[in-house]
Amino acid sequence: MRHFPDFGCETKPRDLNAISAVARQLADVLPNEERLVIVEVGSWTGRSALTMTHALKDRKHVIFCVDHWRGTPDDTTGKIATEIKPHTVFDQFLTNCKEHLWKTIVPVMGASQFWSARWSLPTHMVYIDANHEYVAVKQDIIGWTKHVVIKGIVAGHDYNTPGFPGVAKAVDELVPGAFVIENSDVWWKQVDESLASSFRANA
Ligand SMILES: C[S@@+](CC[C@H](N)C(=O)[O-])C[C@H]1O[C@@H](n2cnc3c(N)ncnc32)[C@H](O)[C@@H]1O
Repeated sequence: MRHFPDFGCETKPRDLNAISAVARQLADVLPNEERLVIVEVGSWTGRSALTMTHALKDRKHVIFCVDHWRGTPDDTTGKIATEIKPHTVFDQFLTNCKEHLWKTIVPVMGASQFWSARWSLPTHMVYIDANHEYVAVKQDIIGWTKHVVIKGIVAGHDYNTPGFPGVAKAVDELVPGAFVIENSDVWWKQVDESLASSFRANA
């Protein structure tokens, strides 16, 4: 595989395959949508966003990448971003995504909670991979799932990753019946009326 500059924070190929499968699933379930709108919460240097845009190359789509590019406090990305400066990480994201920038990949700089409170675009899929602490994952699921249309998908990373027990705890509590793609740490669920209404009540 071609070297991908990511400052040592590498998403595993099996998880990238799982992300592609979820994006393809979205495209199959919503064949008639004119343009698929995806929000990725936590993009770092763009690897998972690029994976999704490649998986959807035959479909009109846009991926909004929400990130403050400061890394996550208390995990490796926070340490790296502090050492090399957040703007360097953001520059690398722009360079890595250059070919797709403003076409299918659009950076949205700022905190997840800031943008989820101000979002107004009906969204077909949210992929959550930002701060993996229990409270933060809960906030992200609650904040973003309410923007997902019925039959859309809420998904995320690190369900089984050692060191991040809060992800599974939050997902199990808030997204009962979520699937985890075999041999991966990617979880997902199609949003139905019952899931959507639980987040409306939470709003
Ligand atoms: C694990 S990295 C994302 C990796 C990326 N999805 C991939 O697979 O290539 C987590 C990212 O979440 C961002 N992040 C953490 N907490 C955040 C928050 N509250 N709001 C926005 N971004 C956040 C960090 O800056 C970091 O870039």
